[in-house]
Amino acid sequence: MKELIRQLVEAYGPSGHEGQIRALIEEQVAPHVDDVRTDAMGNLIALKRGRPEAGGGGKSVMVAAHMDEIGLVVTYIDEKGFLRFAPTGGVSPMTLVGSRVRFANGASGVIGWEKWMRPEGATSRPDLSELYIDVGATSRDDAPVGVGDAAGFVRPFEDLGQRLIAKSMDNRISCAVAMQALFDLGDSPNDLYFCFTAQEEVGTRGAVTASYGIDPDLGLAVDVTLVGDTPKARPMAVSLGEGPAIKIMDSGMLAHPGVVRWMMETADALGIPYQREVLQGGSTDARSIQLSRAGVPSGCLSIPCRYVHTPSEMVDYGDVQQAVSLLVELLGQEIAL
Ligand code: CO
Ligand code: ZN
Repeated sequence: MKELIRQLVEAYGPSGHEGQIRALIEEQVAPHVDDVRTDAMGNLIALKRGRPEAGGGGKSVMVAAHMDEIGLVVTYIDEKGFLRFAPTGGVSPMTLVGSRVRFANGASGVIGWEKWMRPEGATSRPDLSELYIDVGATSRDDAPVGVGDAAGFVRPFEDLGQRLIAKSMDNRISCAVAMQALFDLGDSPNDLYFCFTAQEEVGTRGAVTASYGIDPDLGLAVDVTLVGDTPKARPMAVSLGEGPAIKIMDSGMLAHPGVVRWMMETADALGIPYQREVLQGGSTDARSIQLSRAGVPSGCLSIPCRYVHTPSEMVDYGDVQQAVSLLVELLGQEIAL
């Protein structure tokens, strides 16, 4: 599974520019599903139809893992060829100085700060408006990209054995979990819609249209969540390496109690460790699914992650594998909430 993770986390795909990552995912999931399509928002929707002989009472289940990543969009190019930019998603200037970025066309650059090597630089922190991207151009005319082009971060995947580091673990690790679950699943009584959603980082927008179009009986997002296990972290009852987390609440959603119970009882029956998640800040695609149409019972399976929204996000491989096992069991069974 680590090779799948490497391919996904190293791929380009800032919000609204998911074409490359979508093609990569589509190629791998297509042989395992009955139908695959891309909707107007750019969501990739892969349907594995339920088999009545696998059990009665099949439901239609939407599994959503967002495939977009945080990024930067060019707003202005000055006469010397330096680019100014706006963020897509929650990007902290603290993480940007010296970072490498890459555009869809392969052009690369480094992020500079006006105050670098100036006395103020030693005592202040950067503001986004003081940062620029240096793509090696010497004038506006020879810049290899234009206003509106989007850049993603560039970092290699690092396998530390048990812990894995990469850019965009948020949320390619969950794309990998959903894909591996699809690969491992046998026949299921449920119609399973695996949705690799677009534009989550700018406000769970892809999941809005995907869930409206699918109109599922049940929604399950897979996404990363924050942890409280690093030095002087804000207290939070989620750590790396203690199993995937089952979301009870975040700042955008109170998960459906029946879905939470179904997830916990299934994990208990399998002997899979899990953590109870209450996240103060942030939300996921599950919020958009839950609020779709007249409402959809929804929950979220979370992968604990350190340093979320930096270019070096860390997860635990055991948590990832246990999330796959739990998801396979959840989706393969007859569901009664
Ligand atoms: Co995110
Ligand atoms: Zn996410």
